[in-house]
Amino acid sequence: MIAQPVRYSPDVETIRPDEQETVQGLNDAFDTILERTAADYGHAVRSVHAKSHGILEGELVVDEGLPPELAQGLFATPGTHKVFLRLSTNAGDILPDAISLPRGLAIKVLDVPGDRLPGAEGTVQDFVLVNGTVFQAKTADKFLGNLKMLAATTDRIEGTKKVASAVLRGVTSALGAVGIESPALNSLGGAPNVEPLGETYYSTTPFRYGDHVAKFSVAPVAPALTALTGETIAVDGRDNAIREEVQKEMAGLDAEWEFRVQLCRDLERQPVEDPTVEWNEEEAPFQRVATIRAKRQDSWDEARVQAVNEEMRFSVWTGIADHQPLGNINRARREPYRHSADFRARFNGCPYHEPR
Ligand code: HEM
Repeated sequence: MIAQPVRYSPDVETIRPDEQETVQGLNDAFDTILERTAADYGHAVRSVHAKSHGILEGELVVDEGLPPELAQGLFATPGTHKVFLRLSTNAGDILPDAISLPRGLAIKVLDVPGDRLPGAEGTVQDFVLVNGTVFQAKTADKFLGNLKMLAATTDRIEGTKKVASAVLRGVTSALGAVGIESPALNSLGGAPNVEPLGETYYSTTPFRYGDHVAKFSVAPVAPALTALTGETIAVDGRDNAIREEVQKEMAGLDAEWEFRVQLCRDLERQPVEDPTVEWNEEEAPFQRVATIRAKRQDSWDEARVQAVNEEMRFSVWTGIADHQPLGNINRARREPYRHSADFRARFNGCPYHEPR
């Protein structure tokens, strides 16, 4: 028997006294990375998930007839919203694709009505997901410890030899910084270099879901996408192999994903403050609330890359109050995402916008 979903109230969160100090440390560590990569490339890039493999435009269609517990926030009203998607890999450097790293998926849903989170401009709702079910750093200060290591090893990439050494050190520390430990990757044997279009993505951290609390996931459902699940990309010495393969695939397929929510049903067993705990799907199943579609298109269209990769930023804190990010890790993300995007805007002389 599946328990009733927990009702949201502010006391589902436990705020620690030192959180602001950690945020300051995060911003300082990100500055080291941002300044170094911007100097290397002559162009500022995101401090993590710097490299994008594809930018897509599509629509999110909220299901009709959802039961009250699922018809919440953005998903309270059936209808269609325009979306932008950004596929990425998690390092703060633009690494050659031979270095296989976890994938990210950022989604911007346009024209979402509702009270805004404090400081959230525009009318969009962002979702930021990765292709793993948990985040390995339990708290932001643990994440900061790893990030400091990464900041100290982010190297200048000048010559081939240096690339190799920067990459070798970059990979292990980059993974530590994003909380992923992998002996295979540490020895550069490489995790499978998976096709991003076949992956299932997770928020890993919980959010307010209107009257309830939920984690989010986006899973491929179009057969053309599920055929790619578990497939690996043959890099063949190409630095941007993933981008090229995604571009080839998206030129010929209509993509469709399900957007799913996992309602918290027991605060002990599905904790809010600790994203290293996977919420057991038998006790708290994922349920579909919407469909995302992206028709065949050029996934590296120059104008769209400029508009989304350069002139937009994605943050879990850009959205409506009904989807407030919850837990220590999510609270610590609020300032660094803006800080990183502000750096880019300043360095590149290119302000970011929330689209309408
Ligand atoms: C304390 C924890 C975290 C910190 C400090 C942090 C920090 C950041 C920063 C500074 C950026 C770059 C923002 C920009 O320049 O626009 C970023 C991007 C990103 N982060 Fe996090 N992050 C944290 C946790 C997470 C978690 C739990 C996930 C798992 C879903 C995640 C996934 C991503 C992804 C996918 C992006 C790329 C977004 C895009 O495409 O623009 N991060 N993060």
